[in-house]
Amino acid sequence: MFKLFKKNNEPRPLFATLGTDMHCHLIPMVDDGSKCMEESLDCLRTLQAVGYKKVIVTPHFQHPRFPNTEDDIVRRYEQLCKEAAAAGIEIKLGGIAGEYRIDSGFKARLESPRFLKIADKYVLVEFSLHQQMMGCDEMIFDMQMKGYEVILAHPERYPYLNIDGTRIEQLLNQGVYLQVNILSLGGFYGDEAKRRAFTMIERGWVSFLGTDTHNALYCQALRDITHNRKIEKVLEKYEFLNNTL
Ligand SMILES: [Fe+2]
Repeated sequence: MFKLFKKNNEPRPLFATLGTDMHCHLIPMVDDGSKCMEESLDCLRTLQAVGYKKVIVTPHFQHPRFPNTEDDIVRRYEQLCKEAAAAGIEIKLGGIAGEYRIDSGFKARLESPRFLKIADKYVLVEFSLHQQMMGCDEMIFDMQMKGYEVILAHPERYPYLNIDGTRIEQLLNQGVYLQVNILSLGGFYGDEAKRRAFTMIERGWVSFLGTDTHNALYCQALRDITHNRKIEKVLEKYEFLNNTL
């Protein structure tokens, strides 16, 4: 009987049905994510503990804050794979992509694109958290014309993106996929992002869920939300494309 009331802090494999996490920052020391290899390996252990079978790593490409190059990131990803194998980590490292910010450097990037893609198909992009870049839709259109499928990261986190206006539907009509952060559903980014995240999923707008794991703080929050019944119900009720990756 006592067991029923005992707080259980062990993570549950809640995200097993998603299968693949397609948004996280686990290349050490290239962005605001993991600060060292050991932290990256610990994050991989957490992703495994909460049920993921595969992880696609997506460091920031952001001008001028994170001036990463594709060649360097691929090299570092190979190192991460080696270290994870040596540490006996079982979760599959399923590829290296990027989280590309549509910023003042993005137009130049489009002139000779060599995006690191998710599943050889999708490019994960993000907007500024403060205001949308001028010409953003044209740049997305340009990407689509070049054959890339575009996923917009965490639309629930852009306060200027009015979810009751026509803007999001316009993006969806343009063929943009939306990816909500799982931690938004647990309130990690505040009540407003949480409300928006649930609403977007309930409206059927969301194709992917991502953890956006950066470090141990995110890992703790991820472990905690595996006990969240409301999130469990969302995973039971709605279908996402993570397990197609
Ligand atoms: Fe991210």
